[in-house]
This record gives sequence, structure tokens and C-alpha cells, in this order.
Amino acid sequence: MCGITGYIGYRDAYPIIINGLQRLEYRGYDSAGVVLYDGKQINLSKTKGKVSDLLNKFDAEDAKKGNVGIGHTRWATHGVPNDVNSHPHTSQSGDLVIVHNGIIENYDTIKKELINRGYTFHSDTDTEVLINLIEEVKKNNNVKLGKAVQIALNEVVGAFAIAVFDIEKPDEIVVAKLGSPIAIGIGKDNTEFFIASDASPFLEYTKDAIYLEDEEMAIIKVGRAIEIRKINDDSVVTANVQELQMNLEQIEKGGYDHFMLKEIHEQPRAITDTFRGRLLKDEAIIKMAGIEDNMKRFLNAERILIVACGTSWHAGLVAEYIFEEFARIPVEVEYASEFRYRNPIITEKDIVIAISQSGETADTLAAIKMAKSKGAFVFGVCNVVGSSISRESDAGAYTHAGPEIGVASTKAFTTQITVLTLIALRLARAKGTMSSSDFRMYLHEMELIPNKVEKLLEIDSKVEEIARKYLLSTNFLYLGRGFNFPVALEGALKLKEISYIHAEGYPAAEMKHGPIALIDDRMPVVVIATNKGHYDKVVSNIQEIKSRQGKIIAIVTEGDTVVKEIADHVIEIPDTEEALTPLLTTIPLQLLSYYIAVMRDCNVDQPRNLAKSVTVE
Ligand code: G6P
Repeated sequence: MCGITGYIGYRDAYPIIINGLQRLEYRGYDSAGVVLYDGKQINLSKTKGKVSDLLNKFDAEDAKKGNVGIGHTRWATHGVPNDVNSHPHTSQSGDLVIVHNGIIENYDTIKKELINRGYTFHSDTDTEVLINLIEEVKKNNNVKLGKAVQIALNEVVGAFAIAVFDIEKPDEIVVAKLGSPIAIGIGKDNTEFFIASDASPFLEYTKDAIYLEDEEMAIIKVGRAIEIRKINDDSVVTANVQELQMNLEQIEKGGYDHFMLKEIHEQPRAITDTFRGRLLKDEAIIKMAGIEDNMKRFLNAERILIVACGTSWHAGLVAEYIFEEFARIPVEVEYASEFRYRNPIITEKDIVIAISQSGETADTLAAIKMAKSKGAFVFGVCNVVGSSISRESDAGAYTHAGPEIGVASTKAFTTQITVLTLIALRLARAKGTMSSSDFRMYLHEMELIPNKVEKLLEIDSKVEEIARKYLLSTNFLYLGRGFNFPVALEGALKLKEISYIHAEGYPAAEMKHGPIALIDDRMPVVVIATNKGHYDKVVSNIQEIKSRQGKIIAIVTEGDTVVKEIADHVIEIPDTEEALTPLLTTIPLQLLSYYIAVMRDCNVDQPRNLAKSVTVE
């Protein structure tokens, strides 16, 4: 985790670095820091807290001076969040400065060696160890900064994205990557360079960017083309300059109070973008290059294993129901963190689908590397183009949700379900497990979903009213069955994440095996009771809750009359096919958690202890 920014060029580095850090706060926000070099000396400011807290340290205009600098926003791994552990860190001599995203696993051994050689440490971080190791290597080998970084990185075990500079040579920044992302923006004629964990900090300055690959480092010097080398064998790498497709509008709030609310409201557009060019209703086909090119493998697959974490894992669970129903392929859904460590049985006939919004989640990445090494074919479903998981996969399909900045995932979830549903439908046709009339009907229904989501978003104020009634509740239960069981899990996760209310998701029929004991007149129970599937059985569950005085918030299909009579609150969704209902039932649950969190005065976009992209184990 953690966000890194840097600038070297002719402009004031301070506003570029500060704005950049604010855009990267989704990656971590427990401390922040900036170091600038003003031509004579460095000015280093850091603090526990958010980037907004860091601004208080810059009362003196002089502290903001300089055309070169690096910054950091942290999600603590080694060492609690406090001022001392915040980045940037300096070396013992004070000459070298570093920001780091990742973990140095063998830092303790290196630290002991450095202590024996006379180094003292002020923080508990692995990063301070790394910068002193670089200094020690530089001194002992009498080499330049780039070479010292390279030698030092060959001694460390772990993951990193780093940016380092030497106040003795302030026209140069050295960056390196293994496991954590780093992008370099290139200004006109190499007159300036931008460094960041993703491209959002420099979108307004340049569209030309290089994403470093694992085990690469770059020496960035004003007025000169970037020099990229392999860390382990020193070979020169040709820079692959890409043109960024993202624009500034996509990463701003656009009039909404929070990114989460903006992203909830973006879902009709995001879902449409995800099936644009793939769902061709008039021709009655689904076209997805990643599937067509590998159709034989999919048709011969004996099993699909889905690996993911968090919300993406919930999308995987929805996909399990959909794949089995439509394409009759057995599916297993695994937490990537468990899967990677438990010696799973994987064969060449398995297809592993990795689902990840960021495409950087460390456990998911490690899980697919392991599956690949055992011969499985890996298919990535990612949102971030060019991310590590998308690159590591044998094939894949992007969700086209656009940048998701709110830490609680919303549009990424519905677009993941959209892509996975398209894949399941395509395979169902290829395998002949779905009739052509059903296939056409599903294409038609899918195409109507964005409008239905749009309509559903109009209930905003109704959900707000319900939220007001339950904002002081300390527990919530979420129930659903079939396709909507994973939605119940996702609804509970959303509430936990952003409002810090304890919530559990359960398959409705399992309630009687435990959770029913929790129900009393203070327990709100959100029940998804759409009119198909197991409707009657869910209605019986609602009766059971009612007889124990639980408060029922029911998600029903419009026109429902039965549940209306029993439930305390009813939210109607437009009618659609049962398998597609998760795309609709999710929306009110997202809104409910959003409004409760706002009313409880929680930081909706940056909930405590969480981060958007978990690039550490
Ligand atoms: C973090 C985020 C979640 C996300 C999960 C998986 O925990 O806070 O919102 O679902 O990581 O992330 P991924 O990028 O792999 O989907």
C-alpha cells in the first residue's frame, strides 16, 4: 500500500506533490510527508494523519520552495502511524532521501548488520533500513546513487516501489519497482518528470507515461531520456511510453459530496461501458476477444477456480451461481489469501479467473502466479488497465468502470458481475447449455439493466429516510438466497467498512442455525426477497424475523404485495431475470451504507484502517 509522488523539473514541486498525494490517499492515509530541495538544502515535513494535516506544517512559504521533491501517503506496515515512522526517511548522513511503498522482509537482519557498522535508527520502519543500506553501499563501493540503489535492492527480499534522491546530485531521482506499482510521467522534451503510484497525480501535465515493470529501475534526470535497467542483471530496457486514456474529470468528485456517491451514481454508465462492443443484441452475439481466442481451453475446462479478495470475492460468488446455471461448468470460489498457501489441487484442465478492481492485490497476484506454475490457464478480470494482475494473466477482460476512488468498492462490483455474466452467457452458447431464445432474452434483459439502475437511483431519498431510523444500531443482519446470497454478504461488508457497524451477511435459510438468536426489537434485518427463485421460502424467513420483533428492511420486486404487509420498510427494484437481480439489489444496499456512514459522521471515502489497494500480504 502507500502512495508515492515525486517531481523534478522547472515548476514548483510543492503543489504538484501535495495535489498528487491527495489523489493517492485512497492507497493509505495514516500519515503523510514531503521533502523538497530548494537549491541549497532539503525541507522535510511529515506527520501522522492525512495530507490535510500535513498542510499545517507548511506555514512558512520558504518551506514550499524547490523544483525537486518526493512525497508519501502511508498505510502502516512496519511501525505504528506516528510522525517519526512517516515517510520520507533520510539516511544517517542526511544526504539520501527515500519514499517507499511495500515491505522489506529481511529488514531485521540488514538492520542488525548496519547497527554493527555504526548506524543508528530513529524509526521502526523497514524503509529507514533500506535508505541506510543504500548509503552504506554507495560509500563502500564509491558508486553513484543509481548503482548503489541497484546493489542494495539485490540484497533485499520483499516488495517495493521507491523513489530516492541524493542532495549532492539533486537533478536526478532514482525509482525502482518490484511488486508495487510506479508510473513516470514525461514532460515535453524531457524538461520535467513526474513520479507516482498511479498516473492520477500528473494527468493535467502530461499524457505520456511509462509504467515500470517488476525488477526494473529508472534513473530520471532533467534534460535526458529516462534510463531504465533491470535490477538484477543491469541490462538496458527500452522504455515503453504509453498515452494515458484517463482524464481529469474521471478522478474528480464532479459535484458529489463523496467519491462513493459519485461512483454509485456512475453505475448505469459503467455497466453500459462494460458491455459496449461486447454485447451485440441485434446480431445475437457476445464478442470478447479473451474468450474467443481461448475458446478451446474454456470448452475443455473441467473446472473454473475463481480467486479474489474483498468485494471482488463477492462478485466471484455471484459468478459461481451464474456460471453453473448458464454454462454448467463447476466453479469454486477461493479467498486468494487462503488459496495461495494451502497447496490446492490444480491441473492443466483448470481455468483460474482472478477478479480484482485494482489488479494489484498482493494475495490475488500471488495466487495466480502459483496457479500458473501448476499449469492452470489464468484469466484476469481487472478494472485498472495495465495492472500487475492483468499483465500476469494469460488472457482477460477489463471491466470499464473507470477509476474507482472511494475505498468501498461499488461500480467495480457491478461491472465485475457484468463481465462475468457476459462470459457465462458466451460459454453457455458455445457449450449449448442455453437455448438461443433464452440467450437472446438474456441479451435483451442485460441491455435494459443500466436504465433500471438509473431508475433505482431515484429512490435515493427513500433510502436516506430508512438510514436515519437505524443510524444508531450497533448490529445489522443481511439475508439473501441464491444469486442474492453474495449480495447480502456485500451489503454487510459495505456497512462494516464505512460506518463501523457490525454486520453479518447470511444465506437466508441458514438464519435458523444461529443468527436467529440475535434477533430482537433492536436488530435491523435487511432481506433480499425478489419475486423469483426462493421467494416463498424467503417470505417465511421474514415471518420468522417478524415474530421475534426484528426490524425488516426488504428489497422486493416492484408490485410486490406480500412482503409489503410484513416488512417495516420496503425498497422496490425493477423486475428482471433472477440471475441478473444482483446488479439491481446491490444498489439500495450501497446507498443504505453510504447514508448511514454520512449520518454517523464517518469518513466515507477513506474509512479508518482500510486502503483501496492492498499490495501487501
Ligand atoms: C481492499 C479494498 C476492497 C477490495 C479489496 C480487493 O480491501 O478496500 O474494496 O474489494 O481490497 O481489491 P481488488 O482491487 O483486488 O478488487
